[in-house]
Amino acid sequence: MPTGGSPETWFDNEHPALRRCWHPVAWVEELEAANGVLGIELLGERWCVARLADGLTAVRDECPHRRSPLSAGCVVDGTLQCAYHGYRFAADGVCVEIPAVDPRLPIPRTARCETAARVAEHLGMIWVALEEPIVPLPEVPEHTDPSFVRCPLPPMEWKASAAQMADNFLDQGHFAFLHVATFADPDDRLVGEYDVVRDGWKYSVSYWHLTKALADSYEPGDDFRSNQRESYFVFTPPHHVYLRINYPAENSILTISFCHQPVNATTTRLFCTDYRNDIADTEEMRADTAKFQIAVALEDRVMLERMWRKGVSLDVTADLHTKADRITLEMRRVLAELVVAAAAE
Ligand SMILES: [Fe+2]
Repeated sequence: MPTGGSPETWFDNEHPALRRCWHPVAWVEELEAANGVLGIELLGERWCVARLADGLTAVRDECPHRRSPLSAGCVVDGTLQCAYHGYRFAADGVCVEIPAVDPRLPIPRTARCETAARVAEHLGMIWVALEEPIVPLPEVPEHTDPSFVRCPLPPMEWKASAAQMADNFLDQGHFAFLHVATFADPDDRLVGEYDVVRDGWKYSVSYWHLTKALADSYEPGDDFRSNQRESYFVFTPPHHVYLRINYPAENSILTISFCHQPVNATTTRLFCTDYRNDIADTEEMRADTAKFQIAVALEDRVMLERMWRKGVSLDVTADLHTKADRITLEMRRVLAELVVAAAAE
């Protein structure tokens, strides 16, 4: 696969710094549907997530005995049992039973699986950090706010890198070109003023924007923001985008959480959830909301899948950046800092 350079300047789905970060790997419901044992691919490696008696775990998807995939196994008495010879493993990866050997004999110390450093349940998903993470999990306050209805989308696979997708979801300049069929006004091309505010590893942007639909209903004397909407973004590395779209005049808020699983060099799995405070919590309204969000995402996916390089350059002189791109330029700065920090610790 063609890349754009060395790990210092080119950030793709198999960048070594990603081992020091949290990644979503499944909806909680997916793990339940798989009876607590699920094979996943992350950063080009095969792992097995399991819910065992002593907790959630992620082990390398290879039995240390004959390398059979542990994800083909099942949970037996709270342990992960290999389907091939019945070896059983606890959440810390240690083998606790070898059926073919007299139980009075000691289990070899080498009978253990490699485990991921951290596994967590967060925002309705299972998250994994292969090595001790240096960046905290992303936050979505709406997830536990009862005034919001949660509308999760089915996972989507994109032939793009997670960094390109985060770049796309932060981008303000493409709406009039990619999204005319769904929500955008083709004449609304100019990206207005906004500030980028750094806060540790994260940054946020509050962007006030005049929308055509709201402008049409504007009455002279109205509060100047009553015909605008605010898009409030928070980027949490490596790839999380929080977007809260606020229509103050209507007291309505749509928050979108974009979570990305860097599967391998060419593939990313998107876990997207909409949260709305302006709909009834019914199956129909949740489905309608998800349907619209999928239509918008598909417009982006077509473009990203046509890009033949699957990553972003961290060399800010390599690509053309303009004043309108400060929100996505900052993402490159944060990722460049992440690369340095991950290599240093
Ligand atoms: Fe888009």
